[in-house]
Amino acid sequence: MTSRTQPRSLSEAATELIHHPYEAPGGFQSVQPGVFKASTVVFEDTAALRSREWKDKTGYTYGLHGTPTTFVLEERLATLEGGRQVLLAPSGLAAIALVGQSLLKAGDHLLLPDNVYGPSRDFARHELAQWGIATGFYDPMDPASLAAALTPDTRLVWLEAAGSVTLEFPDLAGLLGVIRRHSAQHGEVLAALDNTWGAGLAFNPFDLGAQGEHGVDLTVHALTKYPSGGGDVLMGAVVTRDEALHLRLKLTHMRLGLGVGLNDVELVLRGLPSMALRYAAHDASTRQIAAWLQGRPEVAQVLHPALPGSPGHAHWQASCSGAAGLVSMVFDGARFTSAQVDAFVDALRLFKIGYSWGGPLSLVMPYGLQGMRRFGPLAGQPGTLVRLAVGLEDTGALLADLGQAFEALV
Ligand SMILES: Cc1ncc(COP(=O)(O)O)c(C=O)c1O
Repeated sequence: MTSRTQPRSLSEAATELIHHPYEAPGGFQSVQPGVFKASTVVFEDTAALRSREWKDKTGYTYGLHGTPTTFVLEERLATLEGGRQVLLAPSGLAAIALVGQSLLKAGDHLLLPDNVYGPSRDFARHELAQWGIATGFYDPMDPASLAAALTPDTRLVWLEAAGSVTLEFPDLAGLLGVIRRHSAQHGEVLAALDNTWGAGLAFNPFDLGAQGEHGVDLTVHALTKYPSGGGDVLMGAVVTRDEALHLRLKLTHMRLGLGVGLNDVELVLRGLPSMALRYAAHDASTRQIAAWLQGRPEVAQVLHPALPGSPGHAHWQASCSGAAGLVSMVFDGARFTSAQVDAFVDALRLFKIGYSWGGPLSLVMPYGLQGMRRFGPLAGQPGTLVRLAVGLEDTGALLADLGQAFEALV
């Protein structure tokens, strides 16, 4: 400690604290990686300033371009899914938007599956449309519908498995075959998969097909769901296997300033080691609930890819080892009004009404079927669909909750 005769000024104290020479000894090894927070990163000299490269992760230049903490999360996510590069975004939807903004330009055509995540459709219809990018839709359960919807201007096709809300599981390898054959004739068409449901655990999107001959070009994840696992974080990721494609996305990512909060990165890093176990627990509980729902006379149809008879069950069986924690049930519009179904939803106690999924708390959300689908058996059907996101509570307690709520459906 330095002794002083005169009290130092406040600004001297500030300078002393800002330039404090102490450095903790190296070699500290904790269970979780350290959290480095930065906007500014300092350079030791101008030579370092001029030579340091952020794009290939050999150095640090600015918080937005990466920190040791974001690099660690990116590497772990890439490994999980068999990808090579990862970009982090402030939400799953921001990751989806990044893909569209990076890879499409005026005059291009985009294709979305009928059961795409709703806000992804809105992004295309509103944001991409005003930049001169047209959007079409295809039936994800029919590769011929995709073949018919592709045009010489199509540059990007989104895939989703299982589909949002209605949970159909498509023939991904079949759809990719259609995209690759079209590409061979009309130039590059990229295949992007929203793999939030699979979470890098249920199947390998970069190695689909009997010999792994088909793979998507990129995947997007809402890390908001299973990777974070707490229902308290918003974050997204774009995973690629091709360096040139990654660089295209990365430059747009940088220009758009898509930073993520380092406290949130820490939370996702904390969630990842337990994700496979949590995913298996959500999965096991949801399968039990889906089977139970199938026996309920009030429910016209249960939608869950691991359930025989659910749309795309055979495709799920051929490519997946897990089935996540979502199950939907259809209430026939001729038997139950939406007000009656709302009463059922309101009667639930453990299932809380809320968007999203992948956290410990079970959630429920009702959707009107009218106008929801333009292809398949649900198209034009009246009625209500209720989606359950099964959390980590005791399955018996969740079944009892559903049982008592069905009594409100009279
Ligand atoms: C399939 C799917 N993709 C993407 C998202 C978007 O994730 P976020 O809420 O982090 O924007 C969601 C959110 O519900 C989703 O269900």
